[in-house]
Amino acid sequence: MKHITSIDALGREEVDKIVKGAREMIPYARQRSTPPQAKIEKKPKVCLLFLEPSTRTLGSYEEAARLLGWPTRIISGPESTSLAKKESFANTARMLAIQGAQIIIIRSREEGVSTFIAEVLERAGFSQISIQNAGDGAHEHPSQTLLDRLTILETLGRLKNFTFGFLGDLKYSRTVHSLLKTFTPEDNVRFRLVSCPETRLPEEYKRGLDVFESQSVEDLKDCDIVYVTRIQEERYSDPVELKRVKGRYRITLDVLEKWKKDVKIMHPLPYVDEISPEIRFDRRLILDKQSWYGIPTRMYLLLWSQRNRFEKTVLSGFPEVEKKIIKEVNINEYLASRKKGERYFRPLRNGTVLDHLESGTAEKIERYLKTERVFREDSVIHSIENVPSQKLKRKDVLILENVFLPDKTLALISFIAPQTTFNIVRDNRIRKMKVEPPKEIYSQTSFLRCPNSHCVVNHDPEARPRFRILKKEGKEVVRCNYCEREFSREEVLRTI
Ligand code: NCD
Repeated sequence: MKHITSIDALGREEVDKIVKGAREMIPYARQRSTPPQAKIEKKPKVCLLFLEPSTRTLGSYEEAARLLGWPTRIISGPESTSLAKKESFANTARMLAIQGAQIIIIRSREEGVSTFIAEVLERAGFSQISIQNAGDGAHEHPSQTLLDRLTILETLGRLKNFTFGFLGDLKYSRTVHSLLKTFTPEDNVRFRLVSCPETRLPEEYKRGLDVFESQSVEDLKDCDIVYVTRIQEERYSDPVELKRVKGRYRITLDVLEKWKKDVKIMHPLPYVDEISPEIRFDRRLILDKQSWYGIPTRMYLLLWSQRNRFEKTVLSGFPEVEKKIIKEVNINEYLASRKKGERYFRPLRNGTVLDHLESGTAEKIERYLKTERVFREDSVIHSIENVPSQKLKRKDVLILENVFLPDKTLALISFIAPQTTFNIVRDNRIRKMKVEPPKEIYSQTSFLRCPNSHCVVNHDPEARPRFRILKKEGKEVVRCNYCEREFSREEVLRTI
């Protein structure tokens, strides 16, 4: 692995290895000395590109790089870059690479930027750069999670078998999302999630974990750790909604007294009003210790990137298209075999028939094919709509004379209309086949869209939607490659 874009991309095994490595950095961070691994001849150039405000993450990456003795460029705030002049992320990233960046740590409001720029740089031939996501919108914050896990390990001595409370804005807190993703049901951790209904944890982060949801802080009374979060004000577009959720929870001495005597309170910081000043120095709050662990963790993360940046990652191309031939016959034999009096369309001699299209999809597919520019001057399109069908009751058929579609297009059609039977008529033969909908889809044209308005694909002119098709509990989900949000097939098909 070469980049740290999200917890899922990293995987639990790597997460555990990094926390172990980060733990080994603690003595160096304490003594403010350089670990021997960092003393290399060609020190990598680190670039901290922070497009959202940050005190801890930026500061601890900077301190970590300083302790390693590696040259570091700090960009803080979009206003200090040409992004403020509306330059794209893609161009900005290429420029950093041209100027010598070898490890890029990026924080942004848009989700999925680290994955996107990793792809952009690879395509541009900058193959020895490692990217780390330092927080992308409400999506993820992997390095915070790694330092949170180190904090839990150092505090409880384990990352299993305990009761873990979360309080506050669970909907938009990326630190909560990333942290929850590192746990599996086997860890035997009981989660207590306390929030108001408007800020509940999105379903996708529960993943079979033992979760109890409530609105009352009293329900945190059996927790070993309570992880408090700030209302992520900057993520609310509706001021009325923000007003409803702001200031709803506040930990005071009274609240603390209701919880376990030795409960530990964590917070990724900054806090605003959710922690009352009267308890700021209560020993149950381990906020300062937690944020300090950011330094050894990020020392290790920078070493990790330096080690891994030479790895090859081959950009995933369009996956192999799986075709199943149902039958292949000579066209004259086929025509002769048809029953007398059966009505059918004038025999096609050259081209493609898309049969068994669900009623109403022919029009969509025709529009999609137009955007893909697959038609030639002699192409003729006949669309037959809503006719009786034995298989589907009613169906559409598209007859495309003198049109042959590339495999990728066939696969995308079977994504739009999975029932499609493809008939290819060429050289006096008819080949009837089914095409498996692909496991991954993307399109250069605008017929796919990521419905998440904060996803990078909706903010960079060079970005194109790309999705993985997964089965989850027997149900199909379409997952954005960048923001990793999950949708249905219908949601990602743009009405064109
Ligand atoms: C968090 C973040 O940026 O997501 N802060 C951090 O990195 N320590 C939490 C927050 O802003 O509330």
